Amino acid sequence: MAEKTRIAVFVSGGGTNLQALIDAQKSGIIADGEISIVISNKDNAYALERAANAGIATAVVRKDNGQEAFEEGLIKILEENGIELIVLAGFMCILSESFTSRYPERIINVHPSLIPSFCGKGFYGLRVHEAALGYGIKVTGATVHFVNEIPDGGRIIMQKAVYIEDGDTPEVLQKRVMEQAEWIILPESVQKVSKEIRNNKE
Ligand code: GAR
Repeated sequence: MAEKTRIAVFVSGGGTNLQALIDAQKSGIIADGEISIVISNKDNAYALERAANAGIATAVVRKDNGQEAFEEGLIKILEENGIELIVLAGFMCILSESFTSRYPERIINVHPSLIPSFCGKGFYGLRVHEAALGYGIKVTGATVHFVNEIPDGGRIIMQKAVYIEDGDTPEVLQKRVMEQAEWIILPESVQKVSKEIRNNKE
């Protein structure tokens, strides 16, 4: 059987989705991929500690010298590590078309709404839940999708709905969407795509 799919996880913050991936790897939900490296654009991201605690290699690539240098730095690490699948797990940077077109259907993102609602430029993190509550919708959720040149515009892999409850704040809703949707469908999607890549290598 071919080697497991080599995965890089890109993070910027707390890394609860990264933790879900680490746990899913340990429990066998992700059986056909392995997280080879975690890359952050912020050197103080708690996600880096989660990776280190799990014995996973880490790297920091900062955006100080502009988008092109940033992406060159990322590509260098991806190539050095033989990465076949990139997972954006709370990665708060937009990647240019020159980057995304290098990895067609090899970059996955998790977004905290049911795309095409509350997505695209400016919709990230808590802002998504603020907008959802502001609109007054009653059902939200999370989406895992491939990344292309359109922010949150690539082919959808999985979605899961979550009910909004009376009295929800953006923080409360964010936590429920993570618990009931993101931490479930992100690992499942990573397994699905890892398996496809692995099978195609045989
Ligand atoms: C998650 O809710 C993720 O879906 C969202 O940021 C949070 C990161 O949390 N991502 C986006 O909004 C991307 N557009 P985490 O660092 O604990 O995984």
